[in-house]
Amino acid sequence: MAALSFLILTGAPSHTLRSAAEHSGILIGTAIRTQRLSELAYATTLAREFNMVEAEDAMKWEVVHPRKDSFDFSQADRVVAFAAGHNMKVRGHTLVWHRQLPAWLTNEKRSHDELTEILERHIKTVVGHYRGQVFAWDVVNEAFDEVALGRLRSTIWYDQPGIGFARQGTAYIERCFHWAHEADPEALLFYNEAGAQAINPKSDAIYAMVRDFKHRGVPIDGVGFELHISGLHPDIASISQNMARFTALGIQVHITEMDVALQVDSNGNATPQDLQRQAAIYRELASVCLRYPGCTAIQTWGFTDKYSWIGSHSGNRQGAALLFDSQYRPKLSYEALRDTLGRER
Ligand code: XIL
Repeated sequence: MAALSFLILTGAPSHTLRSAAEHSGILIGTAIRTQRLSELAYATTLAREFNMVEAEDAMKWEVVHPRKDSFDFSQADRVVAFAAGHNMKVRGHTLVWHRQLPAWLTNEKRSHDELTEILERHIKTVVGHYRGQVFAWDVVNEAFDEVALGRLRSTIWYDQPGIGFARQGTAYIERCFHWAHEADPEALLFYNEAGAQAINPKSDAIYAMVRDFKHRGVPIDGVGFELHISGLHPDIASISQNMARFTALGIQVHITEMDVALQVDSNGNATPQDLQRQAAIYRELASVCLRYPGCTAIQTWGFTDKYSWIGSHSGNRQGAALLFDSQYRPKLSYEALRDTLGRER
């Protein structure tokens, strides 16, 4: 009886990320690898803990558009079917990017007109295929430069040769949003970017673009902040200020690719201190999101340290960036995120 009244007074504790997130009315997602869905621990952890998924690679050009005149949705369809079977939402990633493009596209010189036709057809075919099943799309990914912060990156879509708006700033991006909107008027359309979560020249440029798009009625619904964190010292105050200004534009913000990379030894293990600091970062960043009603989803870039992008792209032994260890045991970062999501907004 005492235990029962305790539960009634405090509310039942949330036992999974998913139930915690439902409590605070936010989506909790992860990127997934199609080929791992057949691993029991992978699939059960995924279905138990998350209410949103995104294909880590399966919806990218090189996978879905392997030849000029044919599309292959077999891998991506498995992601969508898994989500439907477990009552999860699907984020689509990504329609316009300069990486993971098929050789048939990049090996030949093309005119603006030809490239425009190819891109329009790609966007409309992929978005059309998933109409009503993918609730939000990263329409354009990482279009701003890494080095010359605040400038558009020189890419096949912008100016090499580009779809016809070379040196007209964000006009080519705008075009892509219109095409995606035509293919699925109900889908939420996002611009997604790396390294733009804090106030800096890159996020200033994206802010100016989104404000302009909103004023002129370009169909954009949100901005994705990737949040690949390394170095253990993200500027929380600046990220919060940035989140405030973006959500004040009347758009949504999704945290789309969060991971917190740690230094690891040759066995892939991080120090206890770093794991604690990592947990604090997950907690602090989730709290920032919960502070703004416009921040509607938090997604991590994978969920188990067994399969993570971190470590595969850097030589200096980084890893252990996610919520579960490589045996699918919840880490301190998991507990910190779950407890934060379980709070009222
Ligand atoms: C990464 C994937 O995790 C890898 O499997 C792949 O080899 C390269 O791309 N920003 C993005 C993601 O928007 O699509 C990238 O994903 C990570 C950086």
